[in-house]
Amino acid sequence: MSALFSPIKLRGLALPNRIMVAPMCQYSAENGEANDWHFVHIGNLALSGAAMFCIEATAVEAIGRITPGCLGLWNDATEAALKPIMASVRKRARIAVAMQLAHAGRKASSHRPWEGGQLIPTSEGGWQPEGPSAVPHKEGEAAPLALDTLGLARVAEAFVAAAKRADRLGIDALELHCAHGYLLHQFLSPISNKRTDQYGGSLQNRMRFPLEVFDAIRAVFPDHKPVGIKVSATDWVEGGWDLRQAIEFAQELKKRGVDWIDASSGGVSPLQKIPLGPGYQVPFAKAIKEATGVATMAVGLITEARHAEDIIASGKADMVALARAMLYDPRWGWHAAAELGGEVEAPPQYWRSQPSTQKALFGATTFGTR
Ligand SMILES: Cc1cc2nc3c(=O)[nH]c(=O)nc-3n(C[C@H](O)[C@H](O)[C@H](O)COP(=O)(O)O)c2cc1C
Repeated sequence: MSALFSPIKLRGLALPNRIMVAPMCQYSAENGEANDWHFVHIGNLALSGAAMFCIEATAVEAIGRITPGCLGLWNDATEAALKPIMASVRKRARIAVAMQLAHAGRKASSHRPWEGGQLIPTSEGGWQPEGPSAVPHKEGEAAPLALDTLGLARVAEAFVAAAKRADRLGIDALELHCAHGYLLHQFLSPISNKRTDQYGGSLQNRMRFPLEVFDAIRAVFPDHKPVGIKVSATDWVEGGWDLRQAIEFAQELKKRGVDWIDASSGGVSPLQKIPLGPGYQVPFAKAIKEATGVATMAVGLITEARHAEDIIASGKADMVALARAMLYDPRWGWHAAAELGGEVEAPPQYWRSQPSTQKALFGATTFGTR
């Protein structure tokens, strides 16, 4: 019996295996609206064999986009653009669909990565980013505006409105983006948060806004649908956010009913030093799970089926999330199932692809020809 291909329940959502397609920005939307690229990308990975697909970081307001191409869900047009894509996934695939709700904070108004990724000044069509404090991400860059009380209320309300729209679209689960140096992580980290009000200083104060946003979306998203969170477990910078604080944050989230913690790292400072290697973030998922008992997802350089199997079987995490390996091999789940003796859902149009040596891959399929 494969542990990776064993079922799991997140609140009311039953998943047949432990694999999630990690959220991946496509930088291909226009005015935040999804288009034909998202049909191709989401439709393709909906057939990956993963139990859940997480839609990319989806900005809850226009100024919260990382780049002008980032997906959004802040008005009727952005909601309408996702509707036919969701309908197509529902018709053609049996995969749960999560959405990552996000705000880029001080990292907003950037060029797409393949255009260099640097900040776009307002004089060149960029916009004024906002963050917890007027501290730029990189030395020499223009500083963001520090959010005031009204601004904080506006951002929290934008998360709530997006959560309601996501529910209306039939999204099964939300993942709150609290990682990679974006707005909510900027509040957590002492590197980006220099506030002197109740949202800065002590750990309790730095956690306050992310927890308020979590509570606010949890309150409007239906009870039976799970809400998870992606955290950076460390900034990889001396004196920054670290695993000890991430565990305290996880304890607070547990009290509030968080359904999973997706343990990533880094992103808040260009001074970070990341010891990259296979499964380099797995120890964070393990430590958070052990300390809090909250379900965790391991993410980061998990590419091999047997590695993923070992992570689940040894109890280091409850699920794995894969990003780049899924782009490289959009049938990663099928191939992992073949290797580990699991079963995946496949559309009947593709049933004949099953190698003769692996007839059980798609379960009891019948395909008559004359
Ligand atoms: C093209 C691309 C886009 C990404 N966009 C997001 C995103 O929208 N939200 C997020 O939390 N992480 C994002 N990431 C990070 C991944 O979700 C993941 O945490 C990271 O790539 C490590 O996993 P991997 O080694 O399986 O790729 C992105 C990664 C890639 C490659």
